[in-house]
Amino acid sequence: MTHLLTRRSLLGAAPLLAGGLSLAGLPDRASAQAFGQGAAGAGPVRAMARLAGNENPYGPGPAARAAIAAATGDSWKYPIMEEMAFRAQLAEREGLSPREVLVGEGSSEILHIAALLAGIDGGEVLTATPTFDLVAVQARAAGAVVRELPLDAQMRFDLPALRAAVGPQTRLIYICNPNNPTGTMLPGTELRAFIESLPPAVTVLVDEAYLELAADMASESMAALVHKGANVVVARTFSKLHGLAGLRIGYALARADLIERMARLKLSSTGFLGVTAAAASYTDMQFQAESRSRIAEGVAITTAVLDELGRPHAPTWGNFVFFDTGGPAREFIAAMREAGFSLGRPFAAYPDWCRVSMGTVAQMRDFAAALRRHFG
Ligand SMILES: Cc1ncc(COP(=O)(O)O)c(C=O)c1O
Repeated sequence: MTHLLTRRSLLGAAPLLAGGLSLAGLPDRASAQAFGQGAAGAGPVRAMARLAGNENPYGPGPAARAAIAAATGDSWKYPIMEEMAFRAQLAEREGLSPREVLVGEGSSEILHIAALLAGIDGGEVLTATPTFDLVAVQARAAGAVVRELPLDAQMRFDLPALRAAVGPQTRLIYICNPNNPTGTMLPGTELRAFIESLPPAVTVLVDEAYLELAADMASESMAALVHKGANVVVARTFSKLHGLAGLRIGYALARADLIERMARLKLSSTGFLGVTAAAASYTDMQFQAESRSRIAEGVAITTAVLDELGRPHAPTWGNFVFFDTGGPAREFIAAMREAGFSLGRPFAAYPDWCRVSMGTVAQMRDFAAALRRHFG
């Protein structure tokens, strides 16, 4: 395999082979185009394979679709009881109390609230670049000082550098694991030791949007630290594995006092269809397993062709692959767009690298053929 990076089997799980949203989660003209849709006034555009948003094209699963159909007639209601029941369902699986769970309008809302809190606290936020940048953008907007450290040589969050950067003003550290856009992952043992080494005033926000795609949740999730009373917020989403990005459901796991502080800053509320669909999808293990396996197949197809073509790529635990295009990524992205594939945006720290999200297996076969034509 042609990896620029050493591929380490750190996690005891087969790595699969990162965000879809523009800054602050608001679709702008550029991202509308990246997603294969005409921006307002741009006129019709031909159908694109949508490989830009780290979505799951197989979603919603059968149980979620049935729940949506059954709930449509109930959409005149606020989902108050439904959200309470959903919260209890999430808490039960985690062995937590519902007071330790907050449901958000996507995990973006959870990240946004954590960023607001850091700004209100007048503190400093530490994170890495490139990563999902919503927290950095929102924390700056809320008045926090944000420091973005480079990734390490393996394109992972650099924990020793982050630890060394912690100062008296540090209030929040945002860690995306697996990381978007690189797909790389820190082993749970290392991340836990890092969190436990921090001063109590520092909250660690661990974004596990992609964790359930390929990693062993039991050993790799930081939810175990919530049980121990650590100053940690775990953010999760139904947008990825569950294929429900359009219904906007995410959640946080944290100590009850942290959840209470966050709940006071809620920006929005969930909808009837989203809550009922997510609750149904949560127990649809067959759909989850099928999604994992199809995503893994797409990753295998993509990494095989990259290896064949000698293109370095990062080891990924997400539903996307980050790879070296051998020249300016912007040009490659434009060429692929001409060929009918919309890809993720370029990232300043790795101007030659590009992220491709997993579409259907058939789309990934077509993409592999397009790569052979481009590089062959
Ligand atoms: C790392 C990460 N976190 C959070 C999100 C936001 O997901 P959502 O608001 O749909 O839950 C994304 C979306 O791409 C992401 O990549």
